[in-house]
Amino acid sequence: MTAIGEAIAHPNIALIKYWGKRDEDLILPMTGSLSLTLDVFPTHTRVVPDPALTSDRFLLNGKEMTGTPFARVTRFLDIVRDRAGSSLHALVSSSNKVPTGAGLASSASGFAALAGAAAHAFDLPSDTRSLSRLARRGSGSACRSVIGGLALWHAGTDDASSFAEQVEGPDLAMVIAVVDAGQKSVSSRTAMRLTADTSPYHEGWVRSTAEDLTTMVRALAEDDFRTVGELTESNALRMHAAIQGCRPVIRYLAPVSVALFNACAELREAGLEVYGTADAGPNVEVLCRRADLETTHAELARRFPELTLIAAGSGPGTHRP
Ligand code: PMV
Repeated sequence: MTAIGEAIAHPNIALIKYWGKRDEDLILPMTGSLSLTLDVFPTHTRVVPDPALTSDRFLLNGKEMTGTPFARVTRFLDIVRDRAGSSLHALVSSSNKVPTGAGLASSASGFAALAGAAAHAFDLPSDTRSLSRLARRGSGSACRSVIGGLALWHAGTDDASSFAEQVEGPDLAMVIAVVDAGQKSVSSRTAMRLTADTSPYHEGWVRSTAEDLTTMVRALAEDDFRTVGELTESNALRMHAAIQGCRPVIRYLAPVSVALFNACAELREAGLEVYGTADAGPNVEVLCRRADLETTHAELARRFPELTLIAAGSGPGTHRP
């Protein structure tokens, strides 16, 4: 049985990063990770199975997509069809407010929304755990966008045991500093593989991230914001250190990204508890307590008047419109 499926999902930013797969096909990560789902940049996706179609179609913000974005969507729908025992192709229409491919987790909200809409359309189980496992197959970090607020992705050992679930913690927020909204130079998929294959720091990254995750979960439960912030910043910089060990060289952070990390240190000196993090690109997200969001935004705007700064709080998990 099929129906029109629709879902909305938001991006997430990891406090403890996922960087490295131990199974590329199932997208099983080498370590667990933990993120905050945001309340900005929603992706709204509709999936309409249609017997008249001879292949899938993917419209992103009204534009017909081809190449890699289309291939990723159709490969994902193959998994859905396989599970549903269906051979129907579908029209996928997505509106995505995240600048695509800019290291602002567009694939996370994108595949979380696609998983929600496709599960609905093809009548697959739509409980949170099933959706998180399904979204993971599109893009690892998408399994966390199925969850609202703080999401812990259990690395797991197989398809069934690798999913995200909500954890409790303080009310957190972030200011996203958009250093560059263009397409990133190397995709996270390629860069992750290169890090595992060529960076001598990869092993240390995997070991220390597993430790960081345990400490982070405890710090969140204890409402210990300082430890949460310090671990967030350090874990991101360790990920970038591991990436910078790649050959050929990959370098995501730009001079302004480094200046933003410096600004966090200065603001902390002045008594405002803020911490930087950055994904696979030059943009920096500044983590703060929800109560400090307006002040953090104002302080960064004063120091970086040329940057677009987006204030974001904790957002909902994947849901129907
Ligand atoms: O899920 P992907 O393939 O977009 O990888 C995400 C990788 C990072 O954003 C850098 C880290 C993370 O945990 O989100």
